[in-house]
Amino acid sequence: MTEIKGIALSVLCLSILVSACRDDEEAVFTESDWPAYGGQNNGNRYSTLTQVNRDNVSRLTPAWQFDMDSAGSSQTQPIVVDGVVYGITPNLEVVALNGASGELLWSFSGLERPTDFAGPSRGLAMWKDGDKEILFAGLLDNLFAIDPDSGDLVAEFGNDGVLDLRTGLPGDTSRYYVSMSSPGLIYRDTIIVGFRTAENPPAAPGDIRAFDVRTGELVWSFHTIPAADEFGADTWPEGARATQGGANAWAGFALDEERGIVYVPTGSAVPDFFGGERKGDNLFANSLVALDATTGERVWHFQAIRHDIWDRDFPAPPSLVTVQREGRAIDAVAQTSKQGYVYLFDRATGEPLFPIEERTVPTSSLAEEPAAPSQPVPTAPAPFARQELTADMLTTRSPEMNDWAREQFSNFLSEGLFVPFGTEQPTVVFPGFDGGAEWGGAAIDPAKGIIFINSNDIAWTGELVASPNGMGVGEALYQAQCALCHGTDRQGSPPEFPALTNASETVSPDEMRNILRYGIGRMPGFPALAPEAVTGLTDLLLNPEGVSSSDDGKEAVPSLSTEGSSVAYRFTGYNRFLDPDGYPAVAPPWGTLNAIDLNTGEYLWKIPFGEYPELTAQGIDVTGTENYGGPVLTASGLLFIGATLYDRKIRAYDAASGELLWEYEMPYAGMATPAVYRVDGRQYVVIATSNSRNPRAQQGSAYIAFALPE
Ligand code: HEC
Repeated sequence: MTEIKGIALSVLCLSILVSACRDDEEAVFTESDWPAYGGQNNGNRYSTLTQVNRDNVSRLTPAWQFDMDSAGSSQTQPIVVDGVVYGITPNLEVVALNGASGELLWSFSGLERPTDFAGPSRGLAMWKDGDKEILFAGLLDNLFAIDPDSGDLVAEFGNDGVLDLRTGLPGDTSRYYVSMSSPGLIYRDTIIVGFRTAENPPAAPGDIRAFDVRTGELVWSFHTIPAADEFGADTWPEGARATQGGANAWAGFALDEERGIVYVPTGSAVPDFFGGERKGDNLFANSLVALDATTGERVWHFQAIRHDIWDRDFPAPPSLVTVQREGRAIDAVAQTSKQGYVYLFDRATGEPLFPIEERTVPTSSLAEEPAAPSQPVPTAPAPFARQELTADMLTTRSPEMNDWAREQFSNFLSEGLFVPFGTEQPTVVFPGFDGGAEWGGAAIDPAKGIIFINSNDIAWTGELVASPNGMGVGEALYQAQCALCHGTDRQGSPPEFPALTNASETVSPDEMRNILRYGIGRMPGFPALAPEAVTGLTDLLLNPEGVSSSDDGKEAVPSLSTEGSSVAYRFTGYNRFLDPDGYPAVAPPWGTLNAIDLNTGEYLWKIPFGEYPELTAQGIDVTGTENYGGPVLTASGLLFIGATLYDRKIRAYDAASGELLWEYEMPYAGMATPAVYRVDGRQYVVIATSNSRNPRAQQGSAYIAFALPE
């Protein structure tokens, strides 16, 4: 795309799209592109395109659909450069599509493994210098450098075009499950990456690393679990880098290109729910860390949860914004959270722009759990998800359901956000384990300082159990590694976490081995499991009569891991608080869309977001639903978002009022953040869709692009 190059960009470089410009102030990308995860490296999910506007958006219609022939989950926000849409399929193939027609230009599948057993890869990164371009795709533990014209690997990078991301991490790296759920971020001639890792030991320490885009050489590494002589080491037990894992950044980053600062949101330390073996605050877990993007040195940090025992990862990339305070413009960084808070900091200093209070929180009922005595809570903006479930907030769908919910609720401990899990009764987690905010990220109106956030708003419960002794290998491993998601009783928490009670009906021993080695969907792989461990688990789950399935030994995997079985308490499983019909047992809204003025901290609007079509058909007011994938904003004042799980709609709202201006029912749900671009003068909105999170819906996945009729 050459239109407007040069003209528009010299203006843009000076204003909002700073991250589209390189050092020399020369434009790298145009406003027709969507060149990075989040639109720009500033994480604004904002496009300056205005062809589609309030007056004509009602005429928006599908322009093309690219079917991916997979029942898996597609969470990728594509990037678009020079009219080519680069996406990732549920089976982790990279595809290049003609942005005007959806025609496949090339596809790349570089993984030497069965890709049915794959996790999400939510985006890509493009490095461009003059005529040279490299497309980076993080697929599981591989970072691939691809020629965007041909789809061939760039041999000069790493090992013939690929880096094994486990390389260079401390310890026996073959034991680590590492997966790039979010793309790297390009800063000058480096790509900055984080990764997702296991939720139980052994998990990799979440080092943040920058690699040279040309060679794949390591440029710097920041230790989110500090070494002995590094800042923060005293917030861990001795030798933590060798023994602890997590504190990883799986959600992506934002970059202040001018200041050369990258903002890194991190997740919790491992294991998620019991911290008896990681006494201390555990810096830099659950933190927003500002790093010098050239050296990896820490500029400032803010830890949102001390010694996290609730899995309160920072779930989304931050967004850069400029706010007005007493007539002064302040460059800020905004970070959303699962707790329903949006934190706002001075980008340069880390000073909070709304006061953050330190609140005393409950201690643990378990002697072995050194829960933090206090937690920081922002005083504004008000949380965008409800904070403490009380009996008067239960479902009102019918008097019977309300009675049922009250009865259940009377067995729960519900005292707000920071109640450590115990062994006596389920503890309410509200907002739930999936937020509040999730990985889709927020959109920003850069001129007005407004942030747009979609949020989940349902309750979950969790509980711990003392680790029992004297179990067989399979059962011990199951309880140590699997019960977290599939439940101590193997009932899971369907549909997200399947029950394994009848696994033999759906899973063959071969599939089980692949699932355990590589992971599947939201389930991480367990490469550290030795053959005898895999056999033990397979026998336990697939051959209840005890017939051995062991003809394994195909691949030598590292020694048996019963690591994690020494942990004193285990989590019994993620449980949504649902009524007998499967609807949330709290009163609606179950999902919301919010517009918050970050200058004042005030809400401009807040609406229920998402429908259960069958409830709407019964005449029930829109309830809101769980939603995944974020919004994008255009300069014409339109907020585009898919994300709603059950109605499969993509919608456009008037950003000023929250009024719904357009909606379209897609074949699959838009569980991803859209991208906005232009080809040959025509503006498109493209989104990845899939139904894997809603097993009752017809399965499939596609990229779907919308435009005004020609
Ligand atoms: C972090 C959560 C998590 C952990 C820990 C976990 N799983 Fe899973 N597991 C899942 C999810 C989510 C799925 C569904 C994946 C999908 O299809 O998207 C799944 C699917 C499966 C399936 C396929 C079920 C079917 O009917 O298709 C099997 C078998 C399985 N897990 C076994 C295990 C075993 C054995 C362990 C322990 C070694 C384990 N899982 C640990 C989350 C987890």
